[in-house]
Amino acid sequence: MKKIIAIVSVAVAIGGTALVGLSMQTAGGKTGEVTTGRSLLDYPATTGNIEPVLSEGIPVTPRLLEHGEWVFRGLCVGCHGTAGDGNGAVWELGDLYAKDHKLPRKPRDFTEAVYKLRSTPSGSLPTDADLFRSISRGLVYQQDMPAFKFLPERERWAVVAYIKSFSDRWEEEEEWQEDPIEVGQPPLPNAAMIDAGKEVYALMQCEQCHGPTGKGDGPSAPGLEDDSGLPIVPRDFTDASQFVGSSDPRGIYQTFTTGLDGTPMPSFADFLDEDQRWQLVWYVISLRPEFDLEKTPAEVIMAEHAGSQLAKMSTEQ
Ligand code: HEC
Ligand code: HEC
Repeated sequence: MKKIIAIVSVAVAIGGTALVGLSMQTAGGKTGEVTTGRSLLDYPATTGNIEPVLSEGIPVTPRLLEHGEWVFRGLCVGCHGTAGDGNGAVWELGDLYAKDHKLPRKPRDFTEAVYKLRSTPSGSLPTDADLFRSISRGLVYQQDMPAFKFLPERERWAVVAYIKSFSDRWEEEEEWQEDPIEVGQPPLPNAAMIDAGKEVYALMQCEQCHGPTGKGDGPSAPGLEDDSGLPIVPRDFTDASQFVGSSDPRGIYQTFTTGLDGTPMPSFADFLDEDQRWQLVWYVISLRPEFDLEKTPAEVIMAEHAGSQLAKMSTEQ
């Protein structure tokens, strides 16, 4: 008995040291200085390893699919359902058992394979890396789809392969699957660009839904529904933390160019030239209360966004 206690306490001691080491390292790595008392859990869901390190993914083998099914059954069935159709118990029984915590959005139906967050044109299937990113980062606004970046990368790729197995679209459309759109590097913002963006915003009637000041309160906003018939609110541009896609310049460019399939948010790919798109991007960002071109030079604003994950991705390619 004594021996067991001794072993346990040694294990606790080792575990404790490892944890302290880890939290010191993280705090030091992030800020350049060691702040005491911060642990890994202090970092918000949207930071950390959300971009695939193995950007090509892992070859899909029967073993990987099996592994993916195991991950899915452990972590996803509750919401997405054993059949992958979005009718998991959390969704189905929400009215009965969780009135105050009912999911605001229906979990995605993987048999339909219609996805919001894509680097590919409207109506196309997303890339595997798009799915990897969504699963890692979650669609966290209102906490409906949790972030799974804590899972080892192999398990995230395995579950990507597994959720694709619910729909024939992947095989049927393989031949004409469209490539991701090209998103270049954003120009430095200036006042003229933002004024021009305001005009593009009016011309494209973004304000019908997103409202004149981008608060998500345009005249069409109250009646909007997503494809599952649930009411959906246009994004409030004044709060970057609400974005389910990337809220940096390149992410916003991608969102209005590809659209969010399954929601009323359309694709504007056919209506805007390259200059107009960046004007619109900077106008949307300028609606944030902290944005001030007069107080903060454009270079500093750009640098703040340069560290964003989507920006890093493309410079590596
Ligand atoms: C607490 C419930 C919940 C759990 C658990 C959950 N999801 Fe979701 N998931 C959702 C909801 C709700 C949505 C729809 C969000 C939306 O439409 O904004 C969603 C959407 C998605 C999407 C679609 C993203 C897009 O671009 O359209 C993917 C992919 C996904 N989930 C994968 C997973 C995987 C894989 C797991 C398990 C590792 C998982 N989810 C676990 C609730 C959940
Ligand atoms: C018909 C209504 C409608 C119009 C018009 C519209 N949007 Fe949206 N938009 C939405 C809705 C609804 C959402 C929220 C979707 C969601 O929650 O998944 C949204 C979300 C967004 C997002 C946020 C995506 C994220 O990452 O969370 C951006 C950026 C955006 N819209 C930009 C624009 C721009 C720019 C225009 C004009 C060129 C525009 N929208 C026009 C309805 C609209």
